[in-house]
Amino acid sequence: MSVQINDKVYWVGKVDDRKVPFHRLILERGTTYNSYLLMTDKPTIIDTVDIAFGREYVDNLMKLINPEAIEYIVINHVEPDHAGALPALAAKAKKAKIVTTELGSQLLKDMFRLHHREFVIVRDGDSLDIGGKTLKFFETPYLHTGETMITYSAEDKTLFPCDIFSTHIAAGELFNDLAQGEYLEDFKVYYKLIMAPHRPYVRDMLDKISALEIEMIAPSHGYILRENAASFIGLYDDMSKDSGNNKTKKVAVVYSTMTGNTAKVAQRLVKGLEDNGIATSVFNLKSADIKEVTEVIKESDGLLAGSSTKYADMVGSVEELLKELKDIPVEGKFAAAFGSYGWSGEAIVHIENYLAEAGFKVVNQNYLVGTIGVDEQLFPLRVKFDREEGMETAEKAGDVFAELVNSN
Ligand code: FEO
Repeated sequence: MSVQINDKVYWVGKVDDRKVPFHRLILERGTTYNSYLLMTDKPTIIDTVDIAFGREYVDNLMKLINPEAIEYIVINHVEPDHAGALPALAAKAKKAKIVTTELGSQLLKDMFRLHHREFVIVRDGDSLDIGGKTLKFFETPYLHTGETMITYSAEDKTLFPCDIFSTHIAAGELFNDLAQGEYLEDFKVYYKLIMAPHRPYVRDMLDKISALEIEMIAPSHGYILRENAASFIGLYDDMSKDSGNNKTKKVAVVYSTMTGNTAKVAQRLVKGLEDNGIATSVFNLKSADIKEVTEVIKESDGLLAGSSTKYADMVGSVEELLKELKDIPVEGKFAAAFGSYGWSGEAIVHIENYLAEAGFKVVNQNYLVGTIGVDEQLFPLRVKFDREEGMETAEKAGDVFAELVNSN
């Protein structure tokens, strides 16, 4: 099945009306995997379909075009519901270059053994002439995972934003103006589940597309939004606004450090928190009054507790403080552990145990995977020495913790 949606632009996706398991949810109304063929002088595919439908997808596509003629395959997002049919397609589209972000290329090569293929790496604002149309690309990390980008077809005034502006609904009628029933609530629920945890990145994305003339939004799940496209951008704007009515949330960051590296990790966490509007109270426990720190934690909305590791244990006064926490009300507050280490890093595990025992909602990999989903280890945060890659992870961890606290 294919449907022409614009001049030389075809929907070549798959409607999946099963109850689809997805990120620990069951999509009761199914979903679609929207893939697009731009039949220009340099025929281009934008995103594919779920990995379960690779063969069917390619067979369907071959009714429209000889895959040997495809020049570009744009992969906005590597998650298997969009890039899953890439191996099947690439096997037939032997000359096609794969257009994606730097991180996207690394992931695709590893996931699908595509090291031998030619990649076109695009960065924010890059353009690509596909012979009759001009594509522009914008990096939109964390919408939905780190490597994600979106594609804009200038001549069509059409945005291909992959997961963004999507709806999980098996929308056989494809276009929002033909919708058989209510879908706005599903559109909003999708935003809350998939996009809201990454709110600052939604704001960045809205900034990036603000100068574009957009008449149609062709996402990769659910309806193609050709009626009132601007209103859906407006909805994202409304839903992602930092409510001025909310009081500024506070997070206490406490640590002990042997060489200064755990202090550096704390600083980068603080940067991530403050960049997201969180007020922080930072204590080096070597010189802090435990009673005062406990009072601040009582007043705070979250806690990050860190320590270096020495002889497989915490150092300094961290344990003394953590023992106090079981006597104060902390239910419902987020907490997480962090620390720099040299040859081992057990302190974070001990800290996490104390935080759980005190009754905090402990943010760790289990928690993140079960809620917002992450593609890297953020918490408990364990940084080797003060290596920059670990420090960058610390800043990102601060971002994520801030989002959890802000939405709590
Ligand atoms: Fe629709 Fe993030 O995948």
